[in-house]
Amino acid sequence: MMNFPKSVSLSLTYRALVTQSGGGFKVAEVYLDANEVKPHEVLVKVRAVGLNPTDWKSFDWLKIEDAVVGCDAAGDIVCVGSEVTRFKAGDRVAGFTIGCSQTHNGAFAEYVRFDAFTLLRLPEGMPYEEGASLPIPHLTAVQNLHVHLNLPTPSQAEAKLSPSAAAGTPETILIWGGTTATGHHAIQLARLSGLRVIATASPQAFDEVLALGASFVFDYRDVDVVEKIREAAGDSEMGVRYVLDTISKGGATEKCIDAMGPKGGQVVHLLPVSKDIVKRRADVEVSLTLVYNLLGPMLSDPFRPQDRPPVQRYLENDWIQLSKGWSNGVGTERLKPQRIRRLERGFDGIVDGLKQMREGRYGREKLVGYVC
Ligand SMILES: NC(=O)c1ccc[n+]([C@@H]2O[C@H](COP(=O)([O-])OP(=O)(O)OC[C@H]3O[C@@H](n4cnc5c(N)ncnc54)[C@H](OP(=O)(O)O)[C@@H]3O)[C@@H](O)[C@H]2O)c1
Repeated sequence: MMNFPKSVSLSLTYRALVTQSGGGFKVAEVYLDANEVKPHEVLVKVRAVGLNPTDWKSFDWLKIEDAVVGCDAAGDIVCVGSEVTRFKAGDRVAGFTIGCSQTHNGAFAEYVRFDAFTLLRLPEGMPYEEGASLPIPHLTAVQNLHVHLNLPTPSQAEAKLSPSAAAGTPETILIWGGTTATGHHAIQLARLSGLRVIATASPQAFDEVLALGASFVFDYRDVDVVEKIREAAGDSEMGVRYVLDTISKGGATEKCIDAMGPKGGQVVHLLPVSKDIVKRRADVEVSLTLVYNLLGPMLSDPFRPQDRPPVQRYLENDWIQLSKGWSNGVGTERLKPQRIRRLERGFDGIVDGLKQMREGRYGREKLVGYVC
């Protein structure tokens, strides 16, 4: 059962962007019954939405008709399910759901249901737009770094809980795609975890990537990029031990594996790669991470409930500390937001944003839209 505040009726009709048969999107009315809000969920009035590549990819792959589009949104909690203790009506939050997969829920809508577990509490000073830019990229970085690579979180590193941090010998992580939305967050978190970061990017973005905390940045189009990374990492010692490959196509994963040091290590990647790539080096473990699997199964990949407790601890401790004192467009001393590009207000603006994303016309900016 849900604790609806007295001011909210037990049912709701709202507008949402949904998939159409034969392709494209349309705005449709969605009816929400109180029973649809599950005990672990919150109902959020959407104030801004964030666009991700997965929004158009899921549309193409899942092909579910009348499904609500969109994963990331920020807004105000209207009511919470009976098991939700961390949040209450009125809280400002951002979260994600699996867009294009459900006919009665998705982020590009006037209201969205989020699993309370995925919620980032928005600090005072953070506008909804910056909140909406966060959930999938930030939580993908958290899940890869602090769960799959098992690196200390910023608060653990600060408390010197990790042996490497305590010994003062930083290990090296390569973040391939340092200017992706995921890379933007991963560079900062890895640095805060006490690691030395090497990243790749286009030369025009080198200064931005260094300002986020990378020690070295190399052009991913350079034919000698692998050798340069190995040299910077100090191949005679440990070299690169960890890799987050945010690109995972066009030869990126192979280069990441080849750039690792003589003792091998771990590569996590975000898109499926071939078995040959996974087996490229016996001393390198290569594995796929899907942020969706924090919520449930997706295509052939299973739900990963074991990833939830460490992510939850991050959200309750590290996130609250890292985002404290946030200021609009600047972030905090320790965490910077991506540059935001605001779309025209309304669903048409979001549809235009989806087109820009599909065509790759967003560069290093985060597209953010509004449902009204
Ligand atoms: N598995 C998951 O859970 C998960 C989660 C989030 C995202 N993803 C996937 O991860 C990928 C990245 O998504 P995102 O939203 O983080 O990033 P994004 O914002 O879409 O990344 C755009 C940036 O990618 C960079 N780029 C393009 N090709 C590159 C290459 N070959 N090497 C290095 N950088 C390159 C460009 O950087 P420059 O401007 O420097 O050229 C561009 O600015 C997408 O395929 C997305 O679907 C998966």
